[in-house]
Amino acid sequence: MIVNTELEQKGNLFPSEIINYRKDVDTLHFSTKNGVALQITVVRDSVIRFRYSTTGKFENDFSYGVTIHASRGYSFLDVTENETYYIITTSKLICKVEKLSLQVSLFDAIDLKLINQDEIGFHWEECYEHGGDIVKMSKTCQKSESFYGLGDKPVDVNLKGKRFENWATDSYAFGKDTDPIYKAIPFYTAIQDNKSYGIFFDNTFKTSFDFAHERRNVTSFWAQGGEMNYYFIYGPQMEDVVKNYTDLTGKPHALPPLWALGFHQCKWSYYPEANVKEVTNTFRDLKIPCDAIYLDIDYMDGFRCFTWDKEYFPDPKRMVKELEDDGFKTVVIIDPGIKIDADYIVFKEGLDKDYFCKRADGPYMKGKVWPGECYFPDYTNPEVREWWSGLFKELIEDIGVKGVWNDMNEPAVMDVPNKSFPDDVRHDYDGNPCSHRKAHNIYGTQMARATYHGLKKYAYPKRPFVITRSAYSGAQRYTSTWMGDNVATWEHLAIANNQAQRMAMSGFSFAGSDIGGFAEQPQGELFTRWIQLGVFHAFCRVHSSGDHGDQEPWVFGEEVTDIVRKFVELRYQLLPYLYTAFWKYINDGTPILKSLVLYDQEDTATHYRSDEFVYGEQILICPIQEPNTKGRRMYVPKGKWYNFWTDELVEGGKEMWVDAELDSMPIFIKEGAVIPKYPVQQYVGEKNFDDITLDLYYKEGKESSKLYDDAHDGYDYKKGRFSLRTFKVTGKKEELIIQQHKRGDFNADYTKFNIVFHNLPFEITSIQIDNVDTPLNEVKLGETQSILIDKEFTELHLFGK
Ligand code: GLC
Repeated sequence: MIVNTELEQKGNLFPSEIINYRKDVDTLHFSTKNGVALQITVVRDSVIRFRYSTTGKFENDFSYGVTIHASRGYSFLDVTENETYYIITTSKLICKVEKLSLQVSLFDAIDLKLINQDEIGFHWEECYEHGGDIVKMSKTCQKSESFYGLGDKPVDVNLKGKRFENWATDSYAFGKDTDPIYKAIPFYTAIQDNKSYGIFFDNTFKTSFDFAHERRNVTSFWAQGGEMNYYFIYGPQMEDVVKNYTDLTGKPHALPPLWALGFHQCKWSYYPEANVKEVTNTFRDLKIPCDAIYLDIDYMDGFRCFTWDKEYFPDPKRMVKELEDDGFKTVVIIDPGIKIDADYIVFKEGLDKDYFCKRADGPYMKGKVWPGECYFPDYTNPEVREWWSGLFKELIEDIGVKGVWNDMNEPAVMDVPNKSFPDDVRHDYDGNPCSHRKAHNIYGTQMARATYHGLKKYAYPKRPFVITRSAYSGAQRYTSTWMGDNVATWEHLAIANNQAQRMAMSGFSFAGSDIGGFAEQPQGELFTRWIQLGVFHAFCRVHSSGDHGDQEPWVFGEEVTDIVRKFVELRYQLLPYLYTAFWKYINDGTPILKSLVLYDQEDTATHYRSDEFVYGEQILICPIQEPNTKGRRMYVPKGKWYNFWTDELVEGGKEMWVDAELDSMPIFIKEGAVIPKYPVQQYVGEKNFDDITLDLYYKEGKESSKLYDDAHDGYDYKKGRFSLRTFKVTGKKEELIIQQHKRGDFNADYTKFNIVFHNLPFEITSIQIDNVDTPLNEVKLGETQSILIDKEFTELHLFGK
């Protein structure tokens, strides 16, 4: 077992002094006397890539993680040297490379303060068994430094003091601290002295991260093979670190169709057709909004992907159409394991074309999954991905399925000790042939990528929807994700909260947990509290194994049904707010959920908070994570916030008790915010409305809010058919001004805004719309202090006393 930071350096090798240096546009090449090469590439002023080779030669420079669309270019680059260092300066960073040791230290180019420094820095151990090296990096950890990110780790938000491994693993009923689980996202952010930076270790082998676990003052990361190849991303704001990482590894290629942000209902499994209809009909009867219904593995014929069990589903096309007429999109599961069956067309094709993974000496990789013995497509081969995409034609184009759920793609293999392929399995790795040691962590992402391309093609002109269980950095470009097989316990509710926050700060915002828990069955109270959290995750789906009973919103009695309806309705009302947050995410990489440290890093009280998060830009959420409680203590970040339920204004920057009976939860709105709301619909597009609500929370001072809109599906928005409205609110003691600025040429069907004023400190005596006096009775100023106004207003001015 390799322990990177052990004081005893047995087996470790180190670079010696630099004997050669060369600059090649944005890349600096160093080589040492003992043959180590270091390439430093300035990607952006705040993003520097470090790449080390122990042989003097580098591998073919290929990455699944980094997108070809990543921004490149810097405004300033200068390299100097003195006796001790080479010094690389950009407008944001100063990077010093020590001539004798190749050790690196990084400083803020503006205040010259140290951000991060190698401890021993790059070192390695030769790997006799597999060839190559185990590549290692160690860095000094400052006393007050904290760490975040790393994808789906089921632990508290701050990672300090812990050690993790990245090796995608099927982890049924994982628990708190189980490591690794389904995803491998080798990216973390750190903060120290109000400066935040991130490290993306772009290496798909098994990687490990130690955050001052083994030694209090050392952080380290290492991989079982491949190159020491990492990106250093500087903020100093953590939000900028996350944005830059998301830029590097990619934003989603398209906005999701709006229905995908609605409520989804799933179970293992709904069948036959009558059972599916019973569930969807009950949603409509009980008026609980829902947009998607899932078919788990039992819809297939003997678990053969791309087939249907004709007894359970005699006419899938008709059923899917009927569901759609009722406002339900059908999402079906597709796993990677292809049943070995000479009469099964997908298997035959895969075999004929030689698309299945093979063992080192030539036999196929045979493993057991749901259908029994299977072979597995090598999704790291572009030709196989193309074939796989094509398999979706019938499902999507003909039958009308709207979304695909990729599961078991770690890949999961049953009844074997390591739950996956053996190490010797061969992969194409897009023309860089390798063993499973290198391809394992990327396998699920390449499957989701191939699925995404199939859906994109056959759903056109509509937008595709894909969900995956396994993921490596960059998977967010193609797919949404869930956290795998969690459990119906209170502890898991807290884990789900932390995972969703952690995924968002790892560049992957379109994520959610199995609401209510996958394994076992929740009590009504736990289900209710989980729904309350889940409606504030970008992906919102109830799923359960079905082994222990039903998990639809109505099975826990009337009280729970009513509360669930109330919160799902709130999700539907807030869809324009979520859609705007999603637009921000795909536009500039802003995470949809913001852990408090990311929201306000200057306030050190946020560095160890795990429960509270900001949803979008202006809504503060804190789920109730314990039974039998009528409220909880929570930290409200600095600034003034309105209690969503009571409109009471509280001053943040402190912990406080917040009441929350079962039908409530702590929700706060940032002072000055303009929150857009749709009327309640049973599904996206059910209603045409004349107006939408803007909830305006008075502030003495200024605040700006945004509202993005488009056709909610299709790609016209990429050609300018969107609208982006900015509302600038200026509140004074007896006045309120709202200025609207609009960009884009999309025109929504609704014509008016119903602006609802919360906590106006004055009686409105007169108003001006676009500088024209308007009689109060013309704008329906009701008792609720609201104004109905043409949606194209540019300025609304309220005067009062
Ligand atoms: C896996 C998935 C789960 C699914 C089940 C059957 O356990 O994680 O969501 O329901 O397989 O397909």
